Amino acid sequence: MKVSGFGNSLSLCTLPLLMMLFLLLYKVRSQSGGGDDKACLSGLKTALQDSRGVLVSWNANNLLTPCFNQTLTQLTGINCNENRIVSILLSSRGLGGTVSSALANCSFLNMVDFSDNQMTGVIPTELGGLQLLATLNLSVNGLTGSIPEDLSNCTYLNVLDLHRNSLTGVIPQSLGYLERLKVFDVSDNDLSGPIPVSLANLSSGAPRFNISSFRGNKHLYGFPLPLPKNRNLSVLAIVGIGLGSGLISLFISFTAVCIWLRVSEQRLAADEGKISQLMPE
Ligand SMILES: *[C@@H]1O[C@H](CO)[C@@H](O)[C@H](O)[C@H]1NC(C)=O
Ligand SMILES: *[C@@H]1O[C@H](CO)[C@@H](O)[C@H](O)[C@H]1NC(C)=O
Ligand SMILES: *[C@@H]1O[C@H](CO)[C@@H](O)[C@H](O)[C@H]1NC(C)=O
Ligand SMILES: *[C@@H]1O[C@H](CO)[C@@H](O)[C@H](O)[C@H]1NC(C)=O
Ligand SMILES: *[C@@H]1O[C@H](CO)[C@@H](O)[C@H](O)[C@H]1NC(C)=O
Ligand SMILES: *[C@@H]1O[C@H](CO)[C@@H](O)[C@H](O)[C@H]1NC(C)=O
Repeated sequence: MKVSGFGNSLSLCTLPLLMMLFLLLYKVRSQSGGGDDKACLSGLKTALQDSRGVLVSWNANNLLTPCFNQTLTQLTGINCNENRIVSILLSSRGLGGTVSSALANCSFLNMVDFSDNQMTGVIPTELGGLQLLATLNLSVNGLTGSIPEDLSNCTYLNVLDLHRNSLTGVIPQSLGYLERLKVFDVSDNDLSGPIPVSLANLSSGAPRFNISSFRGNKHLYGFPLPLPKNRNLSVLAIVGIGLGSGLISLFISFTAVCIWLRVSEQRLAADEGKISQLMPE
């Protein structure tokens, strides 16, 4: 009796312990190397607007095991390696909504492509936490806000394509310190300020990224963009208008003085004439 009672209480005590251990191991395993792919995808899905239903495979059931077998997944646009998500490729899928900061939970990502959609909102600074990110293509969307300086934390970044959005602010100088950066395109945005020398010139003096990377930003200036002709023209125009109006007023006052002199001369002459008529010869 006593022995079996002891046995019962032992199993009662160890069961929760074993369960906790199992859960802990499971958690560690599914999050090996940090991050949380499930939190990442459910955060992304919540923030995206999927009017065409391209993300129907991103249902609650599939999201439980985003990578169900090493490299296999049932989720559209997702690629896995060793049970972790390594790329999210969702270009031209008619997606609206925003880029969720939860994307940073996919800590093994090396490629993200949301290009050619209708996404709005800002580029989350949290993306700077993606230490393996090599390609980020968010081009041809409606993204606003500035380019996060934190992106320069992504030391493996090879491709940063942000062209054709509505990004504002200055280009962070620190992006130029990314040694592996081979493609950089911020053309056709609303960026302003000087182009960082670190992005425009190599130490040899040869341009690192040419004009095609920067054109189409009204208030961006500096090499390799041409000198702002408009500003030079407007300065010339102001000088011209100033000089012109000065000359015109000079001319008008000169003419007025001449006319006045002439009129008074004529009046004088007429008076003299009257006098000479009255004067007997
Ligand atoms: C993973 O998929 C491959 C190919 O489909 C299969 O051969 C292998 O047995 C699967 N492994 C597991 C653990 O399910
Ligand atoms: C997932 O991302 C959210 C938003 O950035 C963050 O608050 C949360 O701590 C992240 N969770 C994990 C497990 O990294
Ligand atoms: C980024 O996406 C756009 C639109 O899908 C594409 O035209 C462009 O080539 C991509 N950029 C790079 C560097 O691959
Ligand atoms: C980027 O690095 C800076 C400096 O180390 C740090 O303060 C910042 O939190 C990092 N950003 C991210 C998103 O990890
Ligand atoms: C960048 O290079 C151009 C052409 O090689 C040169 O004219 C310009 O002075 C350089 N700018 C800086 C800041 O070194
Ligand atoms: C700019 O550089 C790219 C390659 O880096 C090249 O394809 C393109 O023709 C260049 N454009 C100009 C205007 O020089």
